Amino acid sequence: MSNYTTEVFDSAVNGSNYVAQKVKELILANDAKGKQTVLGLATGSTPVVMYKELIRLHKEEGLSFANVVTFNLDEYLPMGTDSAHSYWYFMHENLFNHINVKPENINIPNGALPENEVDQHCADYEAKIDAFGGLDIQILGIGRTGHIGFNEPGSTLESLTRKVTLAQITIEDAAPSFGGVENVPAKAITMGVSSVLKARCIYLMAYGEGKAQIVSDTLTNDITDKVPATYLQKHSNTVFVLDNAAASLLPA
Ligand code: PGA
Repeated sequence: MSNYTTEVFDSAVNGSNYVAQKVKELILANDAKGKQTVLGLATGSTPVVMYKELIRLHKEEGLSFANVVTFNLDEYLPMGTDSAHSYWYFMHENLFNHINVKPENINIPNGALPENEVDQHCADYEAKIDAFGGLDIQILGIGRTGHIGFNEPGSTLESLTRKVTLAQITIEDAAPSFGGVENVPAKAITMGVSSVLKARCIYLMAYGEGKAQIVSDTLTNDITDKVPATYLQKHSNTVFVLDNAAASLLPA
């Protein structure tokens, strides 16, 4: 049996604002205690509206990210930070350039390293998350394969930050923005299932009818490596944030 909480909203904007509010509350509570807030962040189209709201909270309500440390889930491999396809670029465009997070507090897997340095980088990335005391909140989207981060089907519960091969469906979903499947990198660096589950609180957002089937598969299946998001059943504090369309195939 799953122990998720599911919150269904009448729009993606309302779901996104709900998550942004949770992030704000945590930052304010930690600031009051003189503690840093450690956020695990995601890319893709899903979190963009939530990031817009965080930017608004910063600009209009004075929410400060000065004591926030971020770790992103994944990055394509190979991928330079100067590429408009990089998640480094995505995060700066959609969030970091518009808030007062310190550049030295931003962590994104480095897709530009020589092949023989990748494994050590992954181990260092994992160790750095642990050194910061783990993630307070992990933000997730979900791919049509059921991936969280780039943990594709076949990923194990114990998996840590590592080099992975992307599933064909994931490559096809990325193809339009790369101008064709042949331009999508075949590999990536991703935080592992275990890395994600170490977060104290997880918000998985899924919006739109294109996510309805995988959301239903995730919420109605037992844990299976065929749908990596089902591993979230092992986690005690995960909230699925959905709109009506993404929730439309869930049993009543
Ligand atoms: P999307 O991707 O937000 O662009 O739908 C989600 C994911 O693949 O995790």
